[in-house]
Amino acid sequence: KEQRVPFVVANWKINKLQADVMDFLSQVNDKVPDQKVVETGIAAQDLFLADMVRTTAGTPIHVVAENVHWEDGGAYTGETSPKALKDIGATYVLIGHFERRKFFNETDSTVNLKVTAALRNGLRPIIDVDEDMSTYAQFMDAEPSVAQVAAALAGVSVDQIRNVTIAYEPTWAIGSGEAASADQAQKAAHLIRQTLAKLYSPVIAEQVRVLYGGSVTPDNAREIMSQNDIDGVLVGTAALDPKKFLQLIEIAR
Ligand code: G3P
Repeated sequence: KEQRVPFVVANWKINKLQADVMDFLSQVNDKVPDQKVVETGIAAQDLFLADMVRTTAGTPIHVVAENVHWEDGGAYTGETSPKALKDIGATYVLIGHFERRKFFNETDSTVNLKVTAALRNGLRPIIDVDEDMSTYAQFMDAEPSVAQVAAALAGVSVDQIRNVTIAYEPTWAIGSGEAASADQAQKAAHLIRQTLAKLYSPVIAEQVRVLYGGSVTPDNAREIMSQNDIDGVLVGTAALDPKKFLQLIEIAR
């Protein structure tokens, strides 16, 4: 675990407007630790990303997109190209979030196309996976979807996988106020790491960061982040609040 830098990522979804974005950044900009200690990212609507890159220049904060198109450019009205995201200075991109799979017909195959497009263009994907409904005994016991992990990574080379982060977000925990227990989150992250070991190698599996997401707050984050296979958190609701976001970063140190 020591070889992996903790990673705290806010996912604002489509919850903030311009003034809130700038207000949030003004409160956290000079308080975020060096990237070697904890990496910090904020995912927001595309509209705000360029401004966020300018406002966070000189700080360790990474600007994260919430989606990307799978072609470098071309006739795809309404989409955002990986080239444009790279061009404005975004560093990471969320791919395959449950909400995209559920509301926007994101499939394992589009997730994979987007992952490879991101990597080809120098963006680092944070691949979101949820649970495997075929293995569950009780809804909340379901394992993470190994199939989603494997499908997302098809064609991703040994060199590229180092730039990938996997985030496990059980669907029942997203926005519900009910996070997975630290034990559940650890088991899930461990299974994801075992999957990476099979797909790549045990050495590589130890290098890839695995995050937990779903109702993370400053109250439950410490126990979750202390688990062996968990390298950080992907946070929706709590990360809308700059104070809580900074607390989560402190906990990750
Ligand atoms: O991507 C993070 C998100 O889905 C979790 O949301 O509100 O449960 O922290 P929330």
